[in-house]
Amino acid sequence: MTKTVVAQKYGNPDVLKLIDVEVPPPARGEVRVDVKAIGVNPFDYKLYSGAWGTDPSKLPIHLGGEAAGVVSAIGPDVTTVAVGDEVIVSPGSGLYSEQVVVPSSSVTPKPSSISWEQAAGLLLVGGTAVDALDTIRVSEGDTVLIHGASGGVGSLAVQLAVARGATVIGTAGASNQEYVRSLGATPVLYGDGLEARVRELGSVDAAFDTAGTDEAVDVSLALVADKRRIVTIVAFGRAESDGFNAVGGGNPQSAEARLKARGELVELAGAGRLTVKIAKTFPLADAAQAHAELQSSHPAGKFILIP
Ligand SMILES: NC(=O)c1ccc[n+]([C@@H]2O[C@H](COP(=O)([O-])OP(=O)(O)OC[C@H]3O[C@@H](n4cnc5c(N)ncnc54)[C@H](OP(=O)(O)O)[C@@H]3O)[C@@H](O)[C@H]2O)c1
Repeated sequence: MTKTVVAQKYGNPDVLKLIDVEVPPPARGEVRVDVKAIGVNPFDYKLYSGAWGTDPSKLPIHLGGEAAGVVSAIGPDVTTVAVGDEVIVSPGSGLYSEQVVVPSSSVTPKPSSISWEQAAGLLLVGGTAVDALDTIRVSEGDTVLIHGASGGVGSLAVQLAVARGATVIGTAGASNQEYVRSLGATPVLYGDGLEARVRELGSVDAAFDTAGTDEAVDVSLALVADKRRIVTIVAFGRAESDGFNAVGGGNPQSAEARLKARGELVELAGAGRLTVKIAKTFPLADAAQAHAELQSSHPAGKFILIP
């Protein structure tokens, strides 16, 4: 048996419960991982908040898209990992657990130089950032505006864009301006007057919206001449109506791009050239508290659950 967090109905984080479930032995091509740390993402609470519907047939909903841990058993025909290997699990689902059984294709070796927490918080946000930056072709000499530069996705996008030789302008709240500067971007406050504040800093070639607000979209459309160089990961409706890019949301091309990005992300993080800031850790049993805090104003960095 293992402890796992599920949403037993739709609603606010109070609907989360820690329950015991059987862990099946790993089948052909699968591995069992003893989980050391789990990344918390807004996606996790959107699954049961009603943001994407309230289909009763999907209940109970198992949560968790990324984790890190130690391989404790392997199924037949697994040749790429061995018992005792330290790994990152991503992509995944239902990873808010002490123990998980996953396809061996979803595990990547964990660099020994990063912590369990950083490993668990690296690939979902990092893969999203790489996918988005590739979509708007960010490269050396570009100036790119990143909305939500202090966030999980945004903070990795800033570091990756800077590493590509781009100049980055990053929006954030007042308390995170210095953090965004420390990542290598010029920080600006989001909110009224954003367009004018960015214009003062010069022209912008491309924009990446991780905030999903009309302000972020409207400012991007006003400042970037070529709509093919604007991408959002949240404002899917606006992307469709205004004719710019959106990535993720079940798009198979995005899934493929993120799988491919895992090697680069692990290498950069392992070499200390990409840093995942950890905001706070919570025991697995406090997942509801973590979700409540993630939905309100919270410190920059990833929230991590520890089984
Ligand atoms: N499409 C995909 O594949 C995909 C993948 C991953 C995530 N997402 C989505 O992307 C979003 C961001 O995820 P995350 O993990 O980066 O979240 P996060 O860590 O909570 O970061 C949220 C960011 O938004 C900023 N923000 C808050 N209010 C804002 C406003 N009014 N205007 C502009 N920025 C504002 C925050 O800035 P301050 O904290 O400085 O105020 C912070 O930088 C979520 O909605 C998530 O579901 C989509």
